[in-house]
Amino acid sequence: MSAARPFLKWAGGKGQLLEQFKPLFPKQYERYIEPMVGGGAVFFFLQPEKAILMDLNAELMEVYRVVRDNVEELIADLEKHKNEKDYYYAIRNLDPGKLTPVERASRLIYLNKTCYNGLYRVNRKNKFNVPFGRYKNPDIVNAQGLRAASRALKKAELLTGDFSLVLEFARPGDFIYFDPPYQPLSATSSFTGYTPGSFDEGEQKRLAGVFKELTRIGSKVMLSNSDTPFVREIYQGFRVQTVYAKRAINSRPDRRGSIKELVILNYTD
Ligand SMILES: C[S@@+](CC[C@H](N)C(=O)[O-])C[C@H]1O[C@@H](n2cnc3c(N)ncnc32)[C@H](O)[C@@H]1O
Repeated sequence: MSAARPFLKWAGGKGQLLEQFKPLFPKQYERYIEPMVGGGAVFFFLQPEKAILMDLNAELMEVYRVVRDNVEELIADLEKHKNEKDYYYAIRNLDPGKLTPVERASRLIYLNKTCYNGLYRVNRKNKFNVPFGRYKNPDIVNAQGLRAASRALKKAELLTGDFSLVLEFARPGDFIYFDPPYQPLSATSSFTGYTPGSFDEGEQKRLAGVFKELTRIGSKVMLSNSDTPFVREIYQGFRVQTVYAKRAINSRPDRRGSIKELVILNYTD
């Protein structure tokens, strides 16, 4: 049995930060809730007994559903794909609305493994628009990895929607981890490739409002973001920890090869 880990490469993936996160996770909690799950690095690392995973990206949540409920069919469908330029563009041009859920999930995983830079990105019309990546040997069908992810996801409820939905079911004792699109460090480094519409300062403030409301409810909340005066200000009064991430971005690193990021916590143990 191989250990479950993210099966998609996702912008902002937290794989490299897990070791630094370890001492920051609460020692005890009832359910694990991740409202902006993306590639799910933290979920797969924690492997909680009960989880609720959410994202605004409906295609992403459908892939999780297919991996959880139909993993063998998905693996069989992935086997048909080829790492060839013409084939890539033919698959990219398919209308997802005309495919079955298994075919749609298979298409998204295939594009994620073979596209340039291996990221999910759509244009304003919500069409996947990344060019072919020319990888020698992309891991299109990782059957063992998908089966392991499927087993981990059997313990998860999967929801599509806005992060504020969490207020409808959060309870004292839940552990909630938020990983929003980061507040840009400078006007030029902004990245808004997740879903159409950008996560601007208004959205960051709305999220901070949900963080405060969850604190009132008694849930344990952890949140990642970039280290900017704005982020520090909207979470003033909460525990702030720093972690160091390797990032190829356009600003002067304040530690060799890495940049400082913030983890905001509303609990101490
Ligand atoms: C930084 S990524 C999460 C990365 C993830 N932690 C990982 O390790 O791969 C942010 C995620 O937030 C989602 N998102 C953006 N706006 C949202 C909203 N209003 N409600 C819920 N999810 C949202 C995006 O679709 C994206 O998957």
